Amino acid sequence: SVTLAVLTSGGDSQGMNAAVRSVVRVSIQLGANVYFVKEGYYGLIEGNDYITKANWYDVSFTLNLGGTIIGTKRCMEFMTKEGRMKATKNMISLGIGNLVVIGGDGSLSGANIFREEWPSYIDELLRKGEIDEETSKKFDHLNLVGIVGSIDNDFSGTDMTIGADTALHRILEAIDSIVSTAFSHQRTFIMEVMGRNCGYLAVKSALMCEADYLFIREWPQKLDWPDKLCEHVQRARKYGKRLNIIIVSEGAVDLNGTAITSEMVKNVLVDRLQQDARVTVLGHVQRGGSPSAFDRILASRMGAHAVLCLLEATKTSEPKVVCLNANTIEHQSLMKCVKSTFEIANAIEQKDFDKALK
Ligand code: F6P
Repeated sequence: SVTLAVLTSGGDSQGMNAAVRSVVRVSIQLGANVYFVKEGYYGLIEGNDYITKANWYDVSFTLNLGGTIIGTKRCMEFMTKEGRMKATKNMISLGIGNLVVIGGDGSLSGANIFREEWPSYIDELLRKGEIDEETSKKFDHLNLVGIVGSIDNDFSGTDMTIGADTALHRILEAIDSIVSTAFSHQRTFIMEVMGRNCGYLAVKSALMCEADYLFIREWPQKLDWPDKLCEHVQRARKYGKRLNIIIVSEGAVDLNGTAITSEMVKNVLVDRLQQDARVTVLGHVQRGGSPSAFDRILASRMGAHAVLCLLEATKTSEPKVVCLNANTIEHQSLMKCVKSTFEIANAIEQKDFDKALK
């Protein structure tokens, strides 16, 4: 029967457990063996207790948990051939030739390098006499499927990544709480949200909390942004608004590419308008807590689809990434999506927004 392993890598996100649970249960239901790899690629390299057989009940009551129960860790060693060779050895010693990687774009492109080099590691193991001819034939290629777990929603090919919806809930809960105190004191709050270089969380939360102003990387501000900001905020106050909410995405920049930080925004309002302005950096709160219903369902569907992809994979199958497209779960070429994710990011850096939109 087919043997596969599942790992989570990179920054955690709410809903990763639902994806792991679904991979485990669908595999068992369909007669496959499934292993947990603990602490991401680090565990794949360490082997031993880091790679353990999963059973149906190991994943009971994990749907409601944020983070990842199998852990995630940054791993420099996986960037080296030596590290990837160790990972190959550990996998084949347990009969694992199929891998589900749940992570962001960096983790998924790392997985693809591993898959591409896999045959060379098998050849080397055969040459050194560490495996026999039969094993080398059985494990001559690695089947790989990616699932995108990231609060940033920054991956091309899927409408949503696992965790982005929950992070948005966390942000809105926080802003709703701030609004009452801001109203009482007639204050302005500058809310800094995550997203790395992607403005998804910032744009959606700005729309949903009626923010007065928004700073994101994809829309670099003209250099006179302080004038515009003050004009806007002042107008709102003139017509009786008792508070202002300003959203700053952590990657926001101006047209020169200079970072616009929440402290800079606050200082403009304090210095020019003598406003009572405060900064709230939401930070890792956005990555915490229970996954939303949407993320639990999305992750469960994606996990199931990943297993089906692996069970159907042949020697010539290219690696896949599981995507949500107009509410349908489907798969696409992993490398095509990784490439297009990087191309969009580059186009934004070069301020070629038409290209980025296309
Ligand atoms: O990619 C998820 C994310 O939370 C980003 O939004 C943020 O920029 C980054 O990870 C923070 O990374 P770390 O958890 O390593 O501080």
